[in-house]
Amino acid sequence: MSQTITLEKTGPEAAQLKPLSVDQQIEAIIKKDTKSAYVHSQSTLSKGVPTGGDPRGLKILPETTRKRFEEAGIDLSKGYPYVPNKNDIPIFLDEATKIRNDGFPFVERGVNADPEKKAFFGAAKQVINLTTKVGTEIVGLQLSDLTDQQKDELALLVAERVVVFFRDQKLSPQKQLELGQYWGQVELHPQSPRVPGLPGVGVIWQNYSLGHLSFKNNTFGNFGIRDAVYGSQTWHTDLVHEFQPAGITHLHNDAIPELGGDTIWSSGYAAYDKLSPALQKFLDGKEAIYFSAHGYIDRDDPFSGPKKIERRHPIIRTHPSTGWKALFVNRSMTKSIVGLEPPESSVILNYLLDVLEKNADIQVRFNWKPTKPGYGTSAIWDNRVSVHSTVWDYEGLEPRHGTRVTSLAEVPFFDAESKSQREALGLSLD
Ligand SMILES: [Fe+2]
Repeated sequence: MSQTITLEKTGPEAAQLKPLSVDQQIEAIIKKDTKSAYVHSQSTLSKGVPTGGDPRGLKILPETTRKRFEEAGIDLSKGYPYVPNKNDIPIFLDEATKIRNDGFPFVERGVNADPEKKAFFGAAKQVINLTTKVGTEIVGLQLSDLTDQQKDELALLVAERVVVFFRDQKLSPQKQLELGQYWGQVELHPQSPRVPGLPGVGVIWQNYSLGHLSFKNNTFGNFGIRDAVYGSQTWHTDLVHEFQPAGITHLHNDAIPELGGDTIWSSGYAAYDKLSPALQKFLDGKEAIYFSAHGYIDRDDPFSGPKKIERRHPIIRTHPSTGWKALFVNRSMTKSIVGLEPPESSVILNYLLDVLEKNADIQVRFNWKPTKPGYGTSAIWDNRVSVHSTVWDYEGLEPRHGTRVTSLAEVPFFDAESKSQREALGLSLD
């Protein structure tokens, strides 16, 4: 911004001082402030978290996680998790928007895979569909052993079934990262805590980062209370504000409560199939505005409060592997439908969110179940065709810790010639 402030100094010192603009001063203040590590409206970290390795996290690190990390040679000597250095975190909206703003090449791995998935299914002991429309569990196969052909077939299976589960996995964070890199450019989150030495491996650990959840308030975000979006309990899709949003996310939980801590997914394909042909036609080809979880300061209006990164994407998108249409909205990070007046947008958007959230017949709820120390359970889902939500019924009383790798995918598109899932599969459209 153009406004400058002259600092009050006199004498020879004054001659050497360059006046700082307001945004430069704000930047200096934020970077000097040791109490607030982050600049956004819903800090997921408690105040006073240091940057670099956190010794406090190391003290409460679950034993099963520690075993996995030690076996994988992760350096925990400086603390855990690694919290990004403040100087590397964007403060201003224009800086944050510039990250990955130009597009990058993406190879859709499922598109050329064998539709019968013979190499992948042939290596598994059992393939269990958990519901008719969404969720499949694979038994007797280690993710760390997959060949490229099997990885392609798994990508197609994930695209078709929305989410695929693997229990009892011996999977190092390094191997998990490698797998994610095969499926696309791995997202490096500028703000989130991560595994030391592995910038693409994020940490999902609510005991560490969300101290303000309670039995009463943990689902407030699902009631449309905007300021109450506390995190993963609110239905959401990962990273929708990106120019090329998330494709496959792989969450590997290595510390799991004895009871509770489930995750629920809902299918965007099936949600589209629930709509009337008239509403489908109305939405086909329309766009919506999506925004980031974190907020940043507007350089030209720094005192107006944090603002989110916003991006336009098709509200109905076509999946490049299956060719099926999916409803692409989520309660946490969809602002409005382009071309509608705000009240119209709000009514229709809320209805579409309800379709995803209230129809149990298009959802799967997965109980992770503890496994032996050093092992964990993986869920691999496609964000292009789903929303998900976690169940905080364990209330943080037992540890729940996981590592997450997200592969970014294509620029979202809508192909007017594409079909709905039921249409493509020849199922009844009533
Ligand atoms: Fe998520």
